[in-house]
Amino acid sequence: MKKTVMTLQKQKQQGNKISMLTAYDYTTAKLMDEAGIDILLVGDSLGMVMLGYEDTLQVTMADMIHHSRGVARGAKEALVVTDLPFLSYHVSVAEAVLNAGRLVKEGLAEAVKLEGGMEFAEVIRGITRAQIPVVAHLGLTPQSVNAFGGFKIQGKSLTAAEKLVKDARAVEAAGAVAIVLEGIPAPLGAYITNQVQIPTIGIGAGPDTDGQVLVYQDMLGMFDELQPKFVKRFAEVGQLYREAFSKYQEEIQQGLFPTPAHSYTIDSEIMTALKAKEGENFAATE
Ligand code: KIV
Repeated sequence: MKKTVMTLQKQKQQGNKISMLTAYDYTTAKLMDEAGIDILLVGDSLGMVMLGYEDTLQVTMADMIHHSRGVARGAKEALVVTDLPFLSYHVSVAEAVLNAGRLVKEGLAEAVKLEGGMEFAEVIRGITRAQIPVVAHLGLTPQSVNAFGGFKIQGKSLTAAEKLVKDARAVEAAGAVAIVLEGIPAPLGAYITNQVQIPTIGIGAGPDTDGQVLVYQDMLGMFDELQPKFVKRFAEVGQLYREAFSKYQEEIQQGLFPTPAHSYTIDSEIMTALKAKEGENFAATE
């Protein structure tokens, strides 16, 4: 059965943890969907893990729509949430609503995510008014990397922790359906989770949020450029890929691939006739 924002709310009420993973293409989305993952997040982290950028700031609406469409086709049951990229919701509420609408109409998203707290309450209200569910993202919000002076854990001082609690309450009041909490101390993640009625989904926010999210290349050991403490590697797929690619390279060089088992046959008489005809044609043109 297709999961919706109502399913997430019910999961929080019943104490059933929510699972979320990033996804950027049809094949991976389908595998995650079959594994029962609740939410597939088409994160703007695709700028880093799919396109090789240093941060997420260069990601465009076109990038998000392109990847979101593939994920949506693979998500038969999982809810598809797609990120609004940097500067697509900062200029005006009207522009934010239009861009959120494009992620739904063209990207086939079922909800959108944006980074920011109370400063974006009006934007969340506007998008929600357009009947598009909004997930807010607080804490170590990667689109603020330059303002933060790097990818740094947030909410460690009393002032910063208080601001995050106020932000969580503000986005809930504005209509957000869930909150992603990234890179904050575990006790603060637990506290915020208890302060709001909507589900919280943590990434580096401790075990007591209502759900967890990871970037899939991180949890599969495929991306070594950043290795945050909060990542657990559930498999070493990067190493498996490397071994398989090397084996392919070697077997081509050694003539071990392809074998007859990977090849198509043809009646030998047809080949003989073909060669004879080719010979005639070649002679005729000399
Ligand atoms: O873009 C992304 O992948 C995200 C997750 C890290 C939550 O926002």
